[in-house]
Amino acid sequence: MPSSTTPLLPQQPSTGEYAPAPPNASRSPCPVVNALANHGYIERSGCNIYMKDLNASMRHVGMSSLLGSVFAKPTYIEFQNPAKAYLQKPVNFFTRLWRLIRNPYSFFAYFGCWKRGQVSNGKRYINLVDLATHGAIEHDISLTRRDVDQKEGNNALQQDLMNDLLHYSSDGGETLTIEDLGKFIKSRIQQQLRDNPNLVYGPSEHQVNCGQVALLMHCFGDGKAIPCSYVRAIFKDERLPWKEGWKRRTWWPMGLFEFFGAVKKMTAAVGLQF
Ligand code: HEM
Repeated sequence: MPSSTTPLLPQQPSTGEYAPAPPNASRSPCPVVNALANHGYIERSGCNIYMKDLNASMRHVGMSSLLGSVFAKPTYIEFQNPAKAYLQKPVNFFTRLWRLIRNPYSFFAYFGCWKRGQVSNGKRYINLVDLATHGAIEHDISLTRRDVDQKEGNNALQQDLMNDLLHYSSDGGETLTIEDLGKFIKSRIQQQLRDNPNLVYGPSEHQVNCGQVALLMHCFGDGKAIPCSYVRAIFKDERLPWKEGWKRRTWWPMGLFEFFGAVKKMTAAVGLQF
């Protein structure tokens, strides 16, 4: 029994319990991955995250194991700066095919965020801030982050963008529909065209952007709309919105085909032609 003079050690929150990021934690531009860290489903420090753990955490937001692994596994491929792609040796068809047979996830190699040397116990790891590596998954024109070339950087939540996002609710702040989000993304494109002279936003960045919003709408909403209270919990507190009434999909997790359909619907709602 501790004596009255023994200092009590602060109690570690249990797995699943929410706690804001500890001081000096590593965090990413993805509110959902940050929330998974704040619930302890991956390291709360956001450091030394192994593929196995990031991959396993995806089920906590109701993704099928295949869809989860399509997002988690390619992250551990070495980052290739797209601006330096011309330095890479050309690879013939058979080499590419062989690589694909050995590792089907190499199809998504452009999502790689891993940096050489990040190995511990013989396994690759990432720190959450690595997800902000521009040109891998991170792209210009996010919903709530500014761009890499702006002084605010591409990682931290921007309060004004968060407020703007919620103002796009067409039912007085109850929900955000796909159409509301489509309009918001369009307005963000106009805003970034004015504010960022170095803007890069082509069809692939747009697909990834719409893909992230599609995931949000299907894992946390009903595919058509998401309650604003959930959006506040996820983006502001970086917390799973259990208190607000959300339950993860268990019987029918979000799978790959549903994801493709959802991205198509989201891009149609933005209505951008390239
Ligand atoms: C291993 C899995 C995941 C990785 C590596 C990942 C990575 C990222 C990255 C790098 C960004 C920043 C993109 C940018 O705006 O520049 C991002 C944004 C985002 N992610 Fe994730 N993510 C993952 C899983 C998820 C899941 C499961 C969801 C939703 C259910 C989600 C929802 C979002 C949303 C909505 C954004 C947009 C944030 C904004 O534009 O302000 N992500 N993600």
